[in-house]
Amino acid sequence: MPRKTRVAISQRASQISPSGIRRFFDLVASMEGVISLGVGEPDFTTPWHIREAAIYSLEKGYTMYTSNLGMPELRQELARHLKNKYGLDYDPDTELLITIGVSEGLDLAARAILDPGDGVIMADPHYVSYSSCVALAGGVPVMVPTYEKNNFELGAEDIEKRITPKTKAMLIGYPSNPTGAVMGRDKLEKIAEVAHRHHLIVISDEIYSSLVYGVEHTCFASLPHMKDSTVLLNGFSKAYAMTGWRIGYAAASKEVINAMFKIHQYTIMCAPTMGQVAALEALKSGDNSVNDMVEDYNRRRRFMVSGLRKIGLPCFEPKGAFYAFPSIKATGMTSEEFAEKLLFEEKVAVIPGTAFGKCGEGYVRCCYATSMAEIEEALKRMGRFVKRYKK
Ligand SMILES: Cc1ncc(COP(=O)(O)O)c(C=O)c1O
Repeated sequence: MPRKTRVAISQRASQISPSGIRRFFDLVASMEGVISLGVGEPDFTTPWHIREAAIYSLEKGYTMYTSNLGMPELRQELARHLKNKYGLDYDPDTELLITIGVSEGLDLAARAILDPGDGVIMADPHYVSYSSCVALAGGVPVMVPTYEKNNFELGAEDIEKRITPKTKAMLIGYPSNPTGAVMGRDKLEKIAEVAHRHHLIVISDEIYSSLVYGVEHTCFASLPHMKDSTVLLNGFSKAYAMTGWRIGYAAASKEVINAMFKIHQYTIMCAPTMGQVAALEALKSGDNSVNDMVEDYNRRRRFMVSGLRKIGLPCFEPKGAFYAFPSIKATGMTSEEFAEKLLFEEKVAVIPGTAFGKCGEGYVRCCYATSMAEIEEALKRMGRFVKRYKK
């Protein structure tokens, strides 16, 4: 008997949906005159001193692979940075790994930690990669709904209710993409206590740690008992406007870094050399540039949030990252309908909240990392749109 034709695509890959954000990018790219509040990316160019360091490294001929773990100088500087900022001691030779952005860190952490069927608790809504990375690693994402009335914070009790013998880890990301929520130390401590009691590993994506407004960022690994059970992920994309350089890092116990390293070694080899040189310069002397950008984002944040409220879209006050997450419930539309109609009728691109999970229904994500003039024009167009449809 002839053999049945094999399905070319694995079940795991088939189960993953393409990112809801990408679908909008593709639509936007095919239209003219669109103001995009869609892309979650700084509109600044990487500060000159950082670009210059990379250019100089090319002139000097630094074009080869680095150590698989990442350049030793960069890991040493990172260890100093984490010590100064959070009082954390990481051994640069065994507890730090330079990755291709936080994106690779998420994938490595999931694959290093999870066995098939292991549960991973995460907030709904959450950054688009979280559930897919977990599912691709064979894990099962377990959603904990978060709500505007609770400032989109994860509740320790809500987490505990969902813990079963299959639960292996938690994946949290504050400041949050898409809501801009930041969680304070006291509430994170309660989550840490639950994680400790149930022996969970916590993957903490802190990519927006430097972009906070009037509040302090708490590093999850700095909470009691958490250093050895946290995989801290961070990177250079957002704080230093370095999205295209593709550099991030993971800080964790020797055991976890070693497992992540083995996967990284066979799939990636090492992060780009030029990017690592740039990251080293960013860490050594990028603070002033970051502060200037944060001040600028803060001005735009205030303008965006008050503008949204003025046009009749209630908006939770985001204290971190560069997103506003207004409620569009008053228009009676779903998030998808709102985003699609707004794009076609007024040429403003926002991302439907449902791209980030079911709890995103009734919201859209507006990125304010764009010029004041564009934000102003976008708000004008959105105002016209809301007036037409508001019930
Ligand atoms: C919450 C969050 N984590 C991770 C990433 C990926 O960042 P990187 O450029 O470091 O891969 C993003 C990018 O938008 C993000 O918003």
